[in-house]
Amino acid sequence: MHVLGIESSCDETAAAIVDRTGYVHSDVVASQTKLHAPYGGVVPELAARAHMQNVARVIREAVDVLPRGINDVDAIAVTQGPGLVGALLVGIQVAKAMAWSRELPLVGVSHLEGHLLAPFLCRGEEEGPRALGPYVALLASGGHTALYAVHAPDDIECLGQTRDDAAGEAFDKVAKVMGLGYPGGPVVDRLAASGDPRRFSLPMPMPARQSLEFSFSGLKTAVADHVRKHGIPSDEQTLADLAASFQRVVVETLVRKSLAACEQTGIGRLVLTGGVAANRGLRELAAAESARARVSLTVLPFASCTDNAAMIAYAGMRRLERGEQADLGLDAFSRDPGFRRGKIRLS
Ligand code: KG4
Ligand code: ZN
Repeated sequence: MHVLGIESSCDETAAAIVDRTGYVHSDVVASQTKLHAPYGGVVPELAARAHMQNVARVIREAVDVLPRGINDVDAIAVTQGPGLVGALLVGIQVAKAMAWSRELPLVGVSHLEGHLLAPFLCRGEEEGPRALGPYVALLASGGHTALYAVHAPDDIECLGQTRDDAAGEAFDKVAKVMGLGYPGGPVVDRLAASGDPRRFSLPMPMPARQSLEFSFSGLKTAVADHVRKHGIPSDEQTLADLAASFQRVVVETLVRKSLAACEQTGIGRLVLTGGVAANRGLRELAAAESARARVSLTVLPFASCTDNAAMIAYAGMRRLERGEQADLGLDAFSRDPGFRRGKIRLS
């Protein structure tokens, strides 16, 4: 069975082919980063229009790897939400048109569920061992920051999430006040490598050891206040020190709470996913602290961490296997009410 996944929830137009084993036959992503960079963030209408322009090409490229192209596709999975509604509607409408014209089963998938099942994807050589038993997943991206216990693909529990900004959003906003451009994560990461992470003392968000909730807006405000008071550092070293100090607090918070989640659930495996999982500081500290706590750490390859359609195809396939199917009335949702704290209903 080959499932075509389509993802258009934010600023990536993506399509992928995944089979029942999780093997990724193709994974095409058209990024809109350059389009939104001048605005310092994603502009919803521009995102939707760019999806319109790119979606057909991206899907064609994804299905072209199959011997008989579209004729070898057995089902279509599409991101239903959460995300920008105008952007989501583009992917959903294309998925419906294809499902209707080719008489293929269609299924809607939560974007978060996709991220959380990404460890099941198999990309050949570069993929590590797939997480098959239960795992705690830290999902840290531009739109979400939360901890989940993934007991099985259809048994996911949200353990705690951010009360305000997502971790990636904090990276982006701090980079903006420091005049570093968009998206902020990669540039702060690069600068932080040469900075002193202890030069500036910034507030640790939600320090209570047992709490699995996050809050990054106070930290972001502290950096903004510093810049308002002292201006953007004019010398490279001070700029790098500020970036490193900010990154250290975010990374320590993420790692501490992830390991607290493992301890509280008794689950000995931690998976890092979402765009922020690309952060080198996070990867290093998570590796060191997981080893100390005897937790086995899985860091997904970059292509599985960031927004992609392979994770959507895989999550859709699991839903289809459970007998779920959408009709042509399938609608988008901007927020996912099923993914708040507690047990998650997946179908
Ligand atoms: O998962 P993703 O590609 O898209 C969303 O679903 O949001 O995550 C994008 C976010 C952005 O906020 C970006 O700044 C952040 O991930 N990011 C990073 C790094 N690379 C991307 N944050 C910290 N360090 C990085 N190296
Ligand atoms: Zn995402």
